[in-house]
Amino acid sequence: MCGIFGCITMNGNASPIIHASLKRLEYRGYDSVGIATINNGEVAIKKDQGKIDEVHELINLDDMQGNVGIGHTRWATHGAPLKENAHPHVDCTGQIVVVHNGIIENYTELKTELENQNHKFVSKTDTEVIPHLIEETLKKNPTSNVTEAVVETIKRLSGSYALAVISSKEPNKIICARSESPLVIGIGEDATYCASDLTAFLPMTNKAVMINDGELVTLTPNNVEIRRIQDGAEVTRAPTTISWTPEMAVKQGYPHFMIKEIHEQPGILRNTLRAQEHYLDLLSTFLDRATEVFFVACGTSYHACLAASYMFSKLAFLPTYPVYASEFVEQHGKSVNIDSTILAVSQSGETADTLGAVTCSQQRAATILGLTNTVGSTLTRVSRVYIGQQSGPEIGVAATKTFTSQLSVLAQLALKLSTKRGKVSQDEMDYLADRLEALPETVQEIILKQEENVKKLAHKYKDAKIFFFLGRGINTATAYEGRLKLMEIAYVPAIAFPAGESKHGPISLIEPGFPVVFICPRDGQTHKTLVGNIQEMKARGASIISIIEEGDEEIKSMSDDYIEVPKGIPEVLSPIPFVIPLQLLAYYMAVEKGLNPDTPRNLAKSVTVK
Ligand code: G6P
Repeated sequence: MCGIFGCITMNGNASPIIHASLKRLEYRGYDSVGIATINNGEVAIKKDQGKIDEVHELINLDDMQGNVGIGHTRWATHGAPLKENAHPHVDCTGQIVVVHNGIIENYTELKTELENQNHKFVSKTDTEVIPHLIEETLKKNPTSNVTEAVVETIKRLSGSYALAVISSKEPNKIICARSESPLVIGIGEDATYCASDLTAFLPMTNKAVMINDGELVTLTPNNVEIRRIQDGAEVTRAPTTISWTPEMAVKQGYPHFMIKEIHEQPGILRNTLRAQEHYLDLLSTFLDRATEVFFVACGTSYHACLAASYMFSKLAFLPTYPVYASEFVEQHGKSVNIDSTILAVSQSGETADTLGAVTCSQQRAATILGLTNTVGSTLTRVSRVYIGQQSGPEIGVAATKTFTSQLSVLAQLALKLSTKRGKVSQDEMDYLADRLEALPETVQEIILKQEENVKKLAHKYKDAKIFFFLGRGINTATAYEGRLKLMEIAYVPAIAFPAGESKHGPISLIEPGFPVVFICPRDGQTHKTLVGNIQEMKARGASIISIIEEGDEEIKSMSDDYIEVPKGIPEVLSPIPFVIPLQLLAYYMAVEKGLNPDTPRNLAKSVTVK
């Protein structure tokens, strides 16, 4: 989830404008930064790893000459946050310059093809194939212009992108295009801009044109031309006048980052589904060989691990042990050994307890694997193999989109291992892969259809003094996560248990009106038993709030309130869609109480002390 920006002015240099605009996009990524301009037919590039201010202090991003330029602030996906992986990227001649946000899925094939044609690559990024493909297209069709070559190049890319291209061959334009990653154009008095979001140019202009998937835009200082990539047809779209304040713009018009991030989940899940085959393959090979596997994490990441332990057991017949990182050394520190494999899961990659468990295991010669949202973090440096979860920066302290994307990667990993081990029939594998692919749409539908219902629910229960969350099987993890969200941002004491455990103690708390949330997927073995657990609670006067599949009349008829998710969700994937209403519930409960969900008291996004 990087930030891209481009600017072409009638007078004056583009670089200070690009620098200032990248600062406003820094929330999208901040591990490296770069700017390219064209001056007197020459390309100039400055880029480095580090935060924008740090890089600016070293190499002054404001003194580049030229009225046309592009810039990038990076959130590493392919390739560590190093100078050579920072954007912009160039072709072999250095005349074609590209910045990109998104993931090019077929970059390995394209890179091999280009290397066979003698193209030289300097980075580990997927992006670098783009300038080389443009170069190659121009080589093969010398009469083409750069725009035509960009169009041909784009047709060969699969994946997601918002990209901006400049070239010293045609210095007075910026060419940009979009597929799935956001791109918006700004029209100023004496300049035009392209950006990942309008926050970037809002101080210069409030006239914006939103670009749709499959469109290509050519910017000159006083003109914007939009065409459909497929057939070249011109698109006419009037600019919209934006009335957002800069603060509203950063949140894309949402009142809080948390709700923005909840809404981002369909897009992020699509990104995560592009999790790199190669790394899934490597990680699953390590897991396949392992004698004992520990999943180690804290907070929400621990809940992802708990759910994952069910996935690996059901799909790959691999027993795994989810352990709270803060307990790991005490619980397993002495027994962990060369035959142990630790999969550490950490959004930040910097959580002290998780790293503590990793260090202890490393000292005892265990194999360390990592899943993180922060490529370049300590976890990526200490892991034998790691995989990025591709969620982009999460600003709300409470983890939402990073939880569902962790689950998505872990499900893909379990499926991969299952295939390797030949444990599940091909039909079932195909079915699950299909349902996994459909999850972004499923999650989208839940948000669209249920957000208002959850809001009403939050209003109804806003004064509840305590909440109960119950689930069975894999949705024990969902129940724990629902409870954590509600506690941490709405300050409502909450309890979560595997539903079967409730009668061994917690049920004694139940009195009339006590809200109990049940997570009730239809698929799998847990539904029937859950019905019994609901009845036990109902008989004692609890208010039943159920998360059910559409058409689950049995549980619906027993519930005081219910939230529906679409039909046909396999149980093993169910925490991803079923957690969405719980995230929304926590958010709206906090809002009902007048709390700021983004900054809960006493908590930090990344806990770097033990
Ligand atoms: C903190 C955050 C939680 C997060 C936990 C683990 O407590 O507030 O949202 O789940 O740390 O963080 P990690 O970065 O390791 O996933």
